[in-house]
Amino acid sequence: MPKGPRAGSRNRHLKPHLVFLMIFLTISLIYSWLFVSNKQYHNVTAEYPNSGITILFWHWPYGIHYNLTGDVCLNDYGIPRCVLEDNRSLFENADLVVFHHTELRNQKVHLPVNLPRPASQRWVWLSLEAPPNIGNLKTYKNLFNLTMSYHPQADITVPYGKLIPKEKQIRDFIIPINKSHEACWVVSNYQKRQRRSAVFQELKKTLNVQVYGRFARKPLSKEALLPTISRCYFYLAFENTESPHYITEKLWKNAFQSGAVPVVLGPPRKDYEAVAHPKSFIHVDDFNSTKDLATYLRNLIKDPEKYNVYFTWRQNYRVKLYTDWRERVCNICPLYRQFPAQKIYEDLII
Ligand SMILES: *[C@@H]1O[C@H](CO)[C@@H](O)[C@H](O)[C@H]1NC(C)=O
Ligand SMILES: *[C@@H]1O[C@H](CO)[C@@H](O)[C@H](O)[C@H]1NC(C)=O
Ligand SMILES: *[C@@H]1O[C@H](CO)[C@@H](O)[C@H](O)[C@H]1NC(C)=O
Ligand SMILES: *[C@@H]1O[C@H](CO)[C@@H](O)[C@H](O)[C@H]1NC(C)=O
Ligand SMILES: *[C@@H]1O[C@H](CO)[C@@H](O)[C@H](O)[C@H]1NC(C)=O
Repeated sequence: MPKGPRAGSRNRHLKPHLVFLMIFLTISLIYSWLFVSNKQYHNVTAEYPNSGITILFWHWPYGIHYNLTGDVCLNDYGIPRCVLEDNRSLFENADLVVFHHTELRNQKVHLPVNLPRPASQRWVWLSLEAPPNIGNLKTYKNLFNLTMSYHPQADITVPYGKLIPKEKQIRDFIIPINKSHEACWVVSNYQKRQRRSAVFQELKKTLNVQVYGRFARKPLSKEALLPTISRCYFYLAFENTESPHYITEKLWKNAFQSGAVPVVLGPPRKDYEAVAHPKSFIHVDDFNSTKDLATYLRNLIKDPEKYNVYFTWRQNYRVKLYTDWRERVCNICPLYRQFPAQKIYEDLII
């Protein structure tokens, strides 16, 4: 019995120790569980190398493959954390999948509608063609999240070219003087019913128009194109389709890069003025008749001072061409955060 109080007292002292030990064990368990789980499941760097945006080309436009070795977007275009892939086995890991329309339309390629599609993955519909040349888009109902085209209202606008302001006004261009043709036109697919053909037929009554391309059986190689056009006072930058904002390399490359003054036929003047200097081109709609246009061009050739005004804009701007599909697609990344959280195109026509 004398041990009774002692034993009781020891019991009273042991209980708080046990409670403390249990609390300690529980806390260390929670800590170690947190640490392990953090390491195994929340290491974002391990899960997403570069923690960048991964864009998958489901197929290459027109079947022309580009080299994706290395960090292309960073090394070639200064765009960080933007990974381009063309290996379809990476589908599940892609933040965006890009589908070029032409190959879908001619059924060379099919959409992976049967693959499980990650909830956050966006499908991008890419086309640089004008709506009349695109065909029926009804089969693509409720499949795409973003559009990518030359149109300014597309989610991702990819123009054929653009003006870059120069940092200071510099005359780093020469007004070409060695001109041997009044006007030049490169045309492969000549169709009599097109308005551009009627304008050409009327123009050539007054003006010496040199025609190149498949239609004239005078094809120009890639290398010969610009040097040849540079010998023309004017270049007929006539689009094959007249559609809002549809302004192609006929303006940006053939005319602007060769140093021939563009005579444009396509969307209205205001669409051209939205992207180019108002005094850098001559629009066929500026005149009451094609005959008036021809007379105006003739008079410009005879008046170098007036002709040279069409080069003044080059003191302030230079032309940037877009031709590389990698560059176009890398440019998606800087826009990524601005995309709507949820968007589904029921109808692709803008
Ligand atoms: C996460 O993963 C990366 C790459 O595997 C590694 O370098 C880094 O140390 C990891 N971080 C942690 C906290 O485990
Ligand atoms: C692809 O690009 C990488 C990096 O620029 C280069 O080292 C390699 O030679 C290229 N491969 C081909 C087939 O051109
Ligand atoms: C001008 O163009 C002609 C061909 O039309 C060429 O033979 C000549 O060398 C050129 N002259 C200059 C100064 O570039
Ligand atoms: C077109 O015709 C109208 C009416 O005849 C005339 O007022 C206008 O100046 C003409 N425009 C041009 C560019 O010749
Ligand atoms: C993309 O579109 C698909 C199919 O319509 C839809 O299920 C998905 O929620 C959309 N995702 C986003 C991020 O808008």
